Amino acid sequence: MTLRFGILTASDRSARDERPDVSGPALAEAVTSRGWEVVCREIVPDDLTVLRETLLDWAGRCDLDIILTIGGTGFAPRDVTPEATLAVIDRLAPGLAEAMRAASLQVTPHAMLSRAVAGIRGRVLIINLPGSPKAAVENFQVVLPVLPHAVELLREDPAAEAHHTKS
Ligand code: MTE
Repeated sequence: MTLRFGILTASDRSARDERPDVSGPALAEAVTSRGWEVVCREIVPDDLTVLRETLLDWAGRCDLDIILTIGGTGFAPRDVTPEATLAVIDRLAPGLAEAMRAASLQVTPHAMLSRAVAGIRGRVLIINLPGSPKAAVENFQVVLPVLPHAVELLREDPAAEAHHTKS
């Protein structure tokens, strides 16, 4: 089953072209190497309104299953990606963020500084990832195994039930 992703990088400096977005391409590679699709990719500033509007716009598209955000989950005053995400989701998916933080704590105590959230708007799953390329890919690898089943459930795919009994 193919999964369709949007990848949204939140970075003031990358949006101003002062720093290349390395994490977006690294994550796109992690997605496409699984045979999944990156439908849209954008870099926006760490601005609550812009982030919220972009998430609303993308979650309203019928060609996306999952939106991965990159960056803006730390403690800096401009880190507002979790707030933008919380403003648009209907339901929290706390297990994904819990699993990412638990796994990342094995790598660095700085994982405690991640305020990342995950949640669902309509049939679209939104997952916050940290900003550095290494951290973004590490966190994505943690949730990756459950994403096909998550999307089956969101699509109300009858196959989802069979996977419940198998695992
Ligand atoms: N998770 C992993 N796996 N590896 C890391 O290096 N960095 C952390 C954390 N999560 C990190 C990680 C750091 S330093 C911070 S501040 C938070 O994610 C938030 O990152 P962000 O502000 O770039 O979103």
